[in-house]
Amino acid sequence: MSLTKKIIKEPIRIFADLYYFFNTGFKKPVSFFCNFILPYQYLRIKIDSFLTKLYQNRFMNLEKDLLKKKQLQKMYYEGLIKIENFYNFEDKELLIKLIDQRNQKELEKIIEKTKEKVLKKMIYYLSFLRGENLDSDSLYFSFLCHSTGDALENDKFHSDVFSHSPKAFIYVHNVDLDGRPFLYLISSHKDYKARNNLEKITNKSIYYGTSKFGYKSSRIEENINYQKDYLKKYHKFTGIVKAGSAIFADTSGFHAKGPGSKPRYTFQVATKRKNLINKILSIIWLKKFISLY
Ligand SMILES: [Fe+2]
Repeated sequence: MSLTKKIIKEPIRIFADLYYFFNTGFKKPVSFFCNFILPYQYLRIKIDSFLTKLYQNRFMNLEKDLLKKKQLQKMYYEGLIKIENFYNFEDKELLIKLIDQRNQKELEKIIEKTKEKVLKKMIYYLSFLRGENLDSDSLYFSFLCHSTGDALENDKFHSDVFSHSPKAFIYVHNVDLDGRPFLYLISSHKDYKARNNLEKITNKSIYYGTSKFGYKSSRIEENINYQKDYLKKYHKFTGIVKAGSAIFADTSGFHAKGPGSKPRYTFQVATKRKNLINKILSIIWLKKFISLY
């Protein structure tokens, strides 16, 4: 875009950035002002981390069951948890066939049935990681196949969004080292300095149109020197799992798809991103919310 066009559009862009400041679905600022002068993402990360911490601490205090408390603490410090025997799918071979055929009509029936069984448990863990009370309307369910041919951007370590934001996967079959296991850099979700620095680098390259990935999630490989530090800095979680296991992860932390020659089939649950105001209200209503789960 020419400089003149950029100057003309700048006031509208500033308005859009300020308007979406509290909206956690709005990933990156679009104006020059919010990319280079105002520490826009820094402030959003600060507010989100503050509210999430308040929510999660209150959540852990309110939980009386010792096993669940331990699970919450693990998610709090590490950013993810693996739970075995979460939910086993019945006819796995048929299910894999339906996913391969993209038979949405049949898959939809299985999604509904699965939802009935796992919804409550799902909401519990996802709300904690998100730092916000969720309900069934704020979850998206889908069956996915990560095949060997889709060596795209998600293979690289990246952070999905500036705010704490969870995803869950239930595994249809066993996943070994050759099965494109989910990779996660443990505790990177709480490394706000690192996340903010990476946001800065990525946002600028997206603003200038020089991003190699042209994608709105911040990639560590956007800057090669950055990546070197990262892989030394954290312990890496590798998602070797048995069928029926679930992984819940805060995908503001750095994660990627592992290598391998076998496809990986999962039932994925993502959450709708709302706004930071909703996080404040969630803290107020938390006690009542937990009593439901
Ligand atoms: Fe991701």
